Amino acid sequence: MDRRKFMNTGVAVGAAAMGLTAVAQAAEEKPLTILGIACSPRQGKTTATSVKVALDAAAKVHSSIKTELIDLGALTFSGFNGSGQFPEDDFFKVVLPKLRDPEVGALIIGSPVYFRNMSSLCAAFLERLSELRKPRLLLADKVVGALSVGGYRHGGQELVIQQIQTGMLCHETVIVGGKPGAHQGATLWNSQGDDIMKDEFGIATARQLGTRVAEAVL
Ligand SMILES: Cc1cc2nc3c(=O)[nH]c(=O)nc-3n(C[C@H](O)[C@H](O)[C@H](O)COP(=O)(O)O)c2cc1C
Repeated sequence: MDRRKFMNTGVAVGAAAMGLTAVAQAAEEKPLTILGIACSPRQGKTTATSVKVALDAAAKVHSSIKTELIDLGALTFSGFNGSGQFPEDDFFKVVLPKLRDPEVGALIIGSPVYFRNMSSLCAAFLERLSELRKPRLLLADKVVGALSVGGYRHGGQELVIQQIQTGMLCHETVIVGGKPGAHQGATLWNSQGDDIMKDEFGIATARQLGTRVAEAVL
């Protein structure tokens, strides 16, 4: 090996080692929370289960990662109401405080497909995020991954993921997909009477998404 090649190899190995150390130190100093947001009005059904699968995969990436699922199906709130004055509803009382927590480093947002679009609950959630834009973009630089569950194999899951990602770009978030096999995000197919765990391919994409979000937030 010539000298320059040896030096380059040495620097690369050193940088990689330093990088891992820095990641480990940063992770130890600052526990990182990944919030999962399930945007189906059907509490605890396929979307919530899929988001939970992604969160569990994320938690396995590093011991410093904490996860929490917010199932919007359990809450009552609506989207932007035109007045600019936001009501003190469940979004205000339950969701906002969690999103404002500085330990939150990432969001995994999941929506069912409704007529090849996101659910109105998901749209309401995205609209209410406008409350986090002042005095500055409080979600800036947070990592965001998306998943979608449809009743058809090709029911519009990727369209919904794209809609969520597009909305979240307005907050200067860092959008990631999943590992190979789930490049844009996780796509799940509810074809077995709401038992989404039977969709082995889709569940694998949810895990790929969670893993990628965790790696990115670290
Ligand atoms: C109003 C409505 C519209 C739907 N439209 C679609 C659709 O366009 N494509 C699709 O694949 N599934 C569609 N579905 C099926 C749901 O996406 C599917 O059942 C999903 O698993 C529901 O999520 P949940 O179990 O979390 O509520 C629709 C369901 C409803 C209620």
